Parts: sequence; C-alpha cells; structure tokens
Amino acid sequence: MGRPRDDGRTPRGHSALNELTAAVERSFDSCDDPRLRELLTSLVRHLHAFACEVELTEAEWRRGIVALTETGWITDDRRQEFILWSDVLGLSMLVEGLAHPKPEGATESTVLGPFWAEGSPERAYGEAIFDSAVGEPAWIHGTVRDVDGTPVADASLDVWQNDANELYSVQDAEAPEAHLRGRFRTREDGSYAFVGVRPVPYRIPHDGPVGAMLAATSRHPWRPAHLHIIVSAPGYQTLTTHVFDAESPHLDSDAVFAVKPSLLREFVRDGGRWSVQNDIVLARA
Ligand code: BEZ
Ligand code: FE
Repeated sequence: MGRPRDDGRTPRGHSALNELTAAVERSFDSCDDPRLRELLTSLVRHLHAFACEVELTEAEWRRGIVALTETGWITDDRRQEFILWSDVLGLSMLVEGLAHPKPEGATESTVLGPFWAEGSPERAYGEAIFDSAVGEPAWIHGTVRDVDGTPVADASLDVWQNDANELYSVQDAEAPEAHLRGRFRTREDGSYAFVGVRPVPYRIPHDGPVGAMLAATSRHPWRPAHLHIIVSAPGYQTLTTHVFDAESPHLDSDAVFAVKPSLLREFVRDGGRWSVQNDIVLARA
C-alpha cells in the first residue's frame, strides 16, 4: 500500500504497517457476532488503507479528531451533525441506494433528512398544511398506485416542507409545531391532495464542523427546492421520497447528493396558486 513515490520507493516500514493492520484485524477473531466482525475488520482495513494512501500526517490526524470532537459537541436532540457528515459525504445516499434498489416502475426513494418530526396532525383530503405561510400556496396532488396500476386506497402520506423563509417548523421558533406538515390518507381511487407552499432552496445547517468543511473545500450548503413525503401502506415497501421543483437552482449540485431526475416535477400556475402533480408508485413488500 502507499502511493509510489517519485523515487519509486514505497513508504518506510511498509511491511511493519501491513503487519499492524493484520494484527488489528485479528483482534476481532473471537467476536461471536459474524456481521460485527465483518464490519469492524473491513472498517480497519479500509481506514488503514486510506491513511497509507494519503500518507496521513499527525497534524491531519489531529485535525480530524478536532472535527469529530466538535461534531459531538454540536449534536443534541435537535441537531445531528454526525448524520450531516454522512449526508454531505454521500454516505446516506449510498446506504439508501443499497437498502432500496428501485423495482421496475416504482417511485424512487431519497434521504429522510433531519427535519421529519413524529406526530404530524392528521388532515383531510385537500386541507392546507399551514394556517398562514410566507410562501406561495401550491396545490400538491396525485395518486398512489401499485406497480400494476391498481390504486392504493387508505395509504398514509406523511408530508413536511420548508417555508419561503427557508425554515422547517422544527427550526423555526416562531412557527407552530404543525406548520407545513401533516398526515393524509389516499381516497378509494388512490388520490391525495393538500395545499402546501411552493418550496424554496435552503441551506443545510452550516454553522458547525460540516459547514467548516464545505467552506474549506469551496462547496456550498444549498439544497434544491423540494418537499418531503413518506408513503406507507400494508403490503408495500414504505417509501421515503422528495418532490423536487424542476425549476429550482442547485438541482445539479445538491449539498447532500439526493436529487434523482425521476423525482423532478413541474409547478404550474393554476388560478391564483401553484399546482404540482406527483403520482406515486409503491413497490410490493
Ligand atoms: C432535508 O432535506 O431536509 C435535508 C437532508 C439532508 C441534510 C439536511 C437537510
Ligand atoms: Fe428538506
């Protein structure tokens, strides 16, 4: 391992380092849980390979420890900086993709994100998910169907979105808890509808170590405009997905790599408000 140097030599102590890696891997030999053993030995192998490949310096190792320490300090019940690292490094989307390979014809899933909250109010077909909002009203509607086209009645849709001030209700001390969130049920024909607002692009939390990394690497913290939906129904895989505004900025540079082209939808003018059709196809469980 180790990048070949210009002089053609490998880093000093090459075989001793290999022996160190092997010794750490062997330290898990008597672990009773085969999956845990696999996870930890593979993690050690890749972590050591990474350090050798970049010839990690002690100062860089210390800087990494500081970033992890700061990540712990800023994380609490409302702020999860570890998951944010996973999001901005593309790991969340990788894990999501491994867990939910897209069955033919089914709607694709994407990240949950940190702003979902339990206990959104149950709302009726066509109801607004806000009392008063800063954003422009939008009629969000569609059907939920099986891959064979059969409507799925009584499916549950848990929806949440941000307002035009960029904030989700869980971030906004001024907003009521239920602001721009709600749970709906599909009708007999699989249809659902509610009034939300046209979503706006927003910045992921960037006042912590993740934000420092983004700034240091000339990356921006923006996510393209979207709203979130979790769809569940007995006999079907639960779908966690987004509706992306097809005209939003940042669709090609989402800070968390969560855009899938199949999830882009056009918002059109319909009388005095916006309207977007978002049909959903569920995969069988
Ligand atoms: C979100 O879409 O709400 C989100 C996802 C990942 C990180 C931050 C926010
Ligand atoms: Fe979001």
